[in-house]
Amino acid sequence: MADAGSSISSAAPRRVAFEVLRAVSESDAYANLVLPDRLRSSGLSGRDAALTTELVYGTLRRSGSYDAIVTSCIDRPWSKVDRPIQDILRIGSHQLLGMDVPTHAAVATTVELAKTQVGRARAGFVNAVLRKVAARTYDDWVDVLATAGDSSPAERLALQHAHPVWLVHEFSDSLAAHDRDRDEVGDLLAADNRRPLVTLVARPGRCTRQELVDAGGRLGEWSSFAVVWPGGDPGTIAAVRQHRAGVQDEGSQLVTSALADADVSNGRDRERWLDMCAGPGGKAALLSAIASERGATLEAWEILPHRATLVRQAVGPNVTVRAVDASDPERLAGPHGSEGKFDRVLLDAPCSGTGALRRRPEARWRKQPSDLPDLVAGQRRLLANALRLVRPGGVVGYVTCSPLVAETSEVVESVLAERHDIELMDARRSLPPGMPDLGDGPAVQLWPHLHHTDAMYLALLRRGKN
Ligand SMILES: C[S@@+](CC[C@H](N)C(=O)[O-])C[C@H]1O[C@@H](n2cnc3c(N)ncnc32)[C@H](O)[C@@H]1O
Repeated sequence: MADAGSSISSAAPRRVAFEVLRAVSESDAYANLVLPDRLRSSGLSGRDAALTTELVYGTLRRSGSYDAIVTSCIDRPWSKVDRPIQDILRIGSHQLLGMDVPTHAAVATTVELAKTQVGRARAGFVNAVLRKVAARTYDDWVDVLATAGDSSPAERLALQHAHPVWLVHEFSDSLAAHDRDRDEVGDLLAADNRRPLVTLVARPGRCTRQELVDAGGRLGEWSSFAVVWPGGDPGTIAAVRQHRAGVQDEGSQLVTSALADADVSNGRDRERWLDMCAGPGGKAALLSAIASERGATLEAWEILPHRATLVRQAVGPNVTVRAVDASDPERLAGPHGSEGKFDRVLLDAPCSGTGALRRRPEARWRKQPSDLPDLVAGQRRLLANALRLVRPGGVVGYVTCSPLVAETSEVVESVLAERHDIELMDARRSLPPGMPDLGDGPAVQLWPHLHHTDAMYLALLRRGKN
């Protein structure tokens, strides 16, 4: 439960939180992009900014469960409630059930918000509903609704940890596929509801971890480039402003350095590396720093021109960045084709992003199972191309920020079924020695509840020598 601090009765954080929620509900905006802008333009800082952030992130994360609770308190379907009122009721519910705000303050401030945003008459409705919501704790609501609905264990977990039921099943399947106990899924769902620590990457040859520790950070848990930043805007750190360091999850750092460290056969002095799907450029920036240290060259491809521009800004002038479709067969064959050209290829594939739900509070409610077939088809095409772009003896790192079986092991298996010259390497060997809970291999699945990273998947595939 979050501490509401001294801003408990201040109107501005609630108004700004409401505006961000409106942008998310009406315009499909991303809270992590909209919120910093709104905080800046409204001049909120310190405790007010922290309260606004908690109101936005906490409300969005649990909105599916709050909707179910509120629905049980009203006599009409949730879909018949006007959308601005839905958002106000969600903010009120989060203060009542997910924060330490006293009941009278939570109700009074939300009713005030309603008066200014939707008028006095509808504020009366908000007041009546929130008084019913306030009658129980969150856990009691879960018990009551799960019992009344005769919920399955997965439905109860979904309500308790505020995830859609289909993701509870998917995560449980993925844990089982990696030889873990399905019962761990509750811990995984709970980890998705904790805000991740801000982790920095010290790009080798450009910045040392010591420089970031001297600036106030502490060493990260696993990656030899990672420094945890305890709080405050990382943009104030000189190395971050100068792109010598950046903000990057440790899981992303680990899969990137794992590809760089994997054994290629027939090594050559000046290796050629490719980041096939590079935008916005976090992994490319780390790869380019490692490549420079090892005398390798890096190319970065990205289909969306504006993202290719972000990659250029992230990697500096030594990397060739192309705004191209990496699944286009034209990129392979012909006199200008790239077939067999690269020693190492990183394919950080476009995916459901369900491994990074900690960072994108609204994402879990937006993703649908129906999104998966198109994503999987794209992932297969890209991986098949990656295996042609790499030279015999070279290595492809297939990475997703998703633990879903359909996007990870099934993609790898389906592509391997069409090629008999590919060896699946033991990716655990390219991760820090002694790192626990890496499963039986050969691919690796990282988990938020075990490794405190995003749920990144890594398979290393080596193309056989001709
Ligand atoms: C998961 S993101 C990569 C994140 C990136 N590696 C990083 O660490 O910042 C996938 C990227 O692939 C791009 N993409 C999708 N399809 C592509 C294609 N066919 N060819 C090249 N890039 C593609 C997307 O636009 C997106 O920027």
